[in-house]
Amino acid sequence: MLLTNPWISSTAIKFPRPFLKPVFQSHAQKVPSGESSKSIEQLSALYSECVRAGVDRKSAVIALGGGVIGDLAGFLAASFLRGVQLIQIPTTLLAMVDSAVGGKTGINLKEGKNLVGAFHQPSLVLCDTDVLKTLPPRELTAGLAEVIKYGVIKDAPLFEYLEKNSDAIKTGSADALKHIIAQSCGIKAAVVSADEFEAGERAILNFGHTLAHAIEKVAGYGAYLHGEAVGIGMVYAARLSVREKGLNQKSADRIEALIARAGLPVQAPELDWAKLRAAIGVDKKNTGGLPRFVLAEKIGRVVFGCPVSEQTMKEVWYAGR
Ligand SMILES: NC(=O)c1ccc[n+]([C@@H]2O[C@H](COP(=O)([O-])OP(=O)(O)OC[C@H]3O[C@@H](n4cnc5c(N)ncnc54)[C@H](O)[C@@H]3O)[C@@H](O)[C@H]2O)c1
Ligand SMILES: [Zn+2]
Repeated sequence: MLLTNPWISSTAIKFPRPFLKPVFQSHAQKVPSGESSKSIEQLSALYSECVRAGVDRKSAVIALGGGVIGDLAGFLAASFLRGVQLIQIPTTLLAMVDSAVGGKTGINLKEGKNLVGAFHQPSLVLCDTDVLKTLPPRELTAGLAEVIKYGVIKDAPLFEYLEKNSDAIKTGSADALKHIIAQSCGIKAAVVSADEFEAGERAILNFGHTLAHAIEKVAGYGAYLHGEAVGIGMVYAARLSVREKGLNQKSADRIEALIARAGLPVQAPELDWAKLRAAIGVDKKNTGGLPRFVLAEKIGRVVFGCPVSEQTMKEVWYAGR
């Protein structure tokens, strides 16, 4: 992560004046990789570092890293001196297509993930597909789950593009990566602009996530990468959608086939339904009673806030094992 000082602004970065070389001080601070860095302790150390480095209201925090760094540095920027500018330079596919865009920042508590945070929009998000060359293939694949999600919720042509180009994407074709990153960011930005603070429509971004969050919790955080759990969650949501929203079986099969082709898991037969159900029930996005799901009417169109009966949730889980 970089802390820049004193007068750099997003405008100065995006449009440097040709003969006026911007002069600014920068101060780099490394943060250990891993979810455990999204902690109060790490944040507190960064606040002290900001004070030592002389960060002021005209400074900007640059989050250079994956989603962990984006969320942590994002919350640092949101809260230090009641807010300084934030620039996101995501280095994982997941961060490029999801966490760097939309303004959600935050850290974890011992009691749960992302329990403390703020909405703080970045002034600039800069994605360079070259950095993905060093990303472990498992992380790249996990990021693809969110891209598939955008296809299902909003963009049938993106879904078809993924069906045709999944091999090129997995082998790191810059053109293919550029295309799917740009499309995904565009969709996320449009959804977030329409509902910045998650009053409604933004919930569609949770397609596949109700079960995914439960899987991550029940399997033990880290056993499944987030995107892997989302892969299983989207297959489950597609099956629920056939029962509840008239999604045709062929479309549900296409969703499952694309997820499998991307190299993501489509089921988790080792996990106990009773435990998953209990974990779904305490998802912080639930509003009491039956859990609400995002379900697909067709590829490219979903509805949110759909209650599903206990019986159907259970039957569909067992049908997919
Ligand atoms: N704010 C949001 O809207 C939002 C949305 C989705 C996820 N998230 C958060 O994002 C986090 C997950 O992000 P992530 O999947 O990017 O994980 P991550 O940040 O942990 O990165 C995954 C791993 O890849 C390494 N890495 C990063 N860039 C690399 C590169 N270019 N080459 C080689 N290795 C690299 C990291 O050091 C780490 O070990 C979670 O904490 C999640 O809660 C936030
Ligand atoms: Zn996600």
